[in-house]
Order: sequence, then C-alpha cells, then structure tokens
Amino acid sequence: MRVAAFTGFDGPESVDIETRDDPEARANEAVVEVEACSINRHDLWIVEGDAAMVEHDELPFVSGLDVAGTVRAVSNEVATAGAANGNDGVAPGHRVLLCPNETCGVCRYCREGPENLCERFGLFHGGLAERALVPADRLLALPDSVSATTAAALPTAYMTAYHMLRRAAVTAGDLVFVPGATGGVGVAAIQLVGVLGAHSIGTTTSSEKATRLRELGADRVIESGDTGSIAGEVEGIGEPDAVINHLGGEFTRMGLDLMRRGGRMVICGRTAGGVSEIDVAPFFLSHQHVVGSTMGTQDDLEWLIDLVTEDAFEPPVDGTYALDETDRAFADMQRRDAFGKLVVEP
Ligand SMILES: NC(=O)c1ccc[n+]([C@@H]2O[C@H](COP(=O)([O-])OP(=O)(O)OC[C@H]3O[C@@H](n4cnc5c(N)ncnc54)[C@H](OP(=O)(O)O)[C@@H]3O)[C@@H](O)[C@H]2O)c1
Ligand SMILES: [Zn+2]
Repeated sequence: MRVAAFTGFDGPESVDIETRDDPEARANEAVVEVEACSINRHDLWIVEGDAAMVEHDELPFVSGLDVAGTVRAVSNEVATAGAANGNDGVAPGHRVLLCPNETCGVCRYCREGPENLCERFGLFHGGLAERALVPADRLLALPDSVSATTAAALPTAYMTAYHMLRRAAVTAGDLVFVPGATGGVGVAAIQLVGVLGAHSIGTTTSSEKATRLRELGADRVIESGDTGSIAGEVEGIGEPDAVINHLGGEFTRMGLDLMRRGGRMVICGRTAGGVSEIDVAPFFLSHQHVVGSTMGTQDDLEWLIDLVTEDAFEPPVDGTYALDETDRAFADMQRRDAFGKLVVEP
C-alpha cells in the first residue's frame, strides 16, 4: 500500500509517497481502508519539526489522526468478541470513523473519566495511507448518509471544540468569542456555538475568509489580526461569557481583558505563541476561569456524528487532495489559505 510519509522536518516538501506492506490485524485491531483523512495543525507542526512529538529516528513517520473509511479486516479476537456480544461488532464492510484518542484503560482517569484526562493520553497517527491499522474499539459506526470526507473533518477539530464549549459551560444566549475562527477548531467552535443557541464573535485576518465566516453563521465577524483593534471592536459588541482560545500568545491576555466577570476561557492551543502573560489582579478580582482542554471523549464524537446525521451542521471542507497531493494540502494550511478543513482522500 501507499502512504504519505514525513521523511524530514522541512515542512510540506518533506512529505513523500512511500510503499509499505499491507497491515495485518492482531489482538484488538482492525484494518480500515482509508477513504478520507483530514489534516490538522498538529500534523503540520510535526513535519515542521516544531513539536518534540516525533524524533529523527522515528522517520519516515506517517501522520494523520482523523480517519474515515470502510473496515477491510478484523483480527480473530475482534470477530469472536463481536459474535459473543450477539452483534456484528466491527466487521469487514462496515463504514466507520476513528476516534483518535489513545488511553491506557487502567489509570484513575480512565476508570472515572473523562477519558481524555488519561495519564498516558496519546493520539493515533497513521491515517495518511491507503490502509490504517487501528484499535477496533475506537471505531464508530458511520451512517450511509454521512460521507467519509465529512466524517473525517470531525474528530480532532470538532471533538476538541465541542469539549471546550462543554468545559466553558456554554448555553443558549451566551456570547462566545473565538479568536482565529477560520481554521479547523475555529470554524468548529463557531458552528457548534450556533447549534447550542449561543452567539459568536469570530476573527480572521482575511476579508475573503470573513465573508465565508458570515455565510457560515458567525453572528459577528472582526477582520483583523491586531489584538488592539480586535479588542476595540469586541468592546463595542459586548462582554463575552466565554472565550475559545486555540491561539495562545497575546490572545490569552486580550481574551481575559474582554471577558465578563466570572467568564470562562478554555485554552487548547498555541498557534500564536506558547507563552502568555496575564495581568493577575484583574483576573482574580473579576473571578474569571481559565481551563486547559485537550481533544474530547469518544462520546463527544458520537454526539457529533449524530448532529451531522441530523443535518444540524455540515463541516466546511475547503479542499480535498489525492494521497500524492498531501504535500500541497500542508502547503495550503501553512499559507493560511484554508477555511475549515482540508481532507486527503487516499
Ligand atoms: N489540545 C488539543 O487537543 C488540540 C486539538 C486540536 C487543535 N489544537 C490546537 O489548536 C490550534 C488550531 O488548530 P487547527 O488545526 O484548527 O489549526 P488551523 O486550521 O491551521 O487554524 C487556522 C486558524 O488560526 C489562525 N492563525 C494561524 N496562524 C496564526 C497566527 N500566527 N496568529 C494568529 N492567528 C493565526 C488563522 O487565522 P486567519 O483566518 O487570519 O488566517 C485561522 O483562523 C493549534 O494550535 C492546534 O495545535 C489543540
Ligand atoms: Zn488512562
């Protein structure tokens, strides 16, 4: 089979097509024929050498978290467990979406939940390939009405955004501020804020993406990348009840300055900087909350599949790429050209 492998850390030009042996399912595994795998900034960072997640001696490395496709084979154990349960379990021919969470299953957080707090939490990598070897118990059934491409947009971006909104306790009528609202997590947050009956403010530096954000249903759109002018515009709209912060850097302090007393900021990323300075006194005097969040739970993802099945929202897919165009997908993400998700269709 063919894979799109990272063969270095020089960005998109380090993505090469290689040939590997077909995977074989053992123990709790299944082999999925990958029909779609969306990419995330997480993958881009790996191939840019920015994250210490992958070492030189692990190259060539096949990334790709968000896998949708059809089960091609399962191990004997998985087949037997399905039969013992009196149902088909995961079987060849089933359409599926992978929840990319990897958990140990035995720590106190795995026992008591939520599972994404697992002490040994990790992520599946290997979806940028014609076939992926995955844990069978992380596969979720995909209704025929939901395409693999749409489904592949959901796991990392939407599961993360939904979990953040849950952690921020966002409810109908809330005002939610999403700096950087045009990428995977940003667009997901804007759409899910709408599903929850809350109101959104999103930002982007691009006028074209601003138009698309309005069309998508963002209630207010600010076209700027400058925290000073963004802050002025948000003040004219109102005090956010919650801030969905995947940018980090100077956007953290800006969000806290704008948020109402008792407001909730949830942070999941550091695109604009891994260090944020905050003014401590106004933070404690106004009883604000800052919460860290990573990915979500498999239940969150099941809920998102249900919502898409019911047409509550549709993730915008800005570009689809053949496997041998994976380098181009990463180049588009790197140039900040994309709106919503980019999906590789091996
Ligand atoms: N902890 C977790 O579990 C988790 C899960 C998913 C994502 N994340 C993190 O969340 C962040 C977003 O991920 P993603 O996959 O959604 O990325 P993405 O699709 O590349 O996000 C693009 C968005 O970020 C904005 N942006 C890009 N570079 C920027 C910069 N230097 N300064 C300010 N804004 C910038 C873009 O703004 P314009 O519209 O102006 O171009 C756009 O709105 C990343 O930091 C990622 O690692 C964390
Ligand atoms: Zn655990």
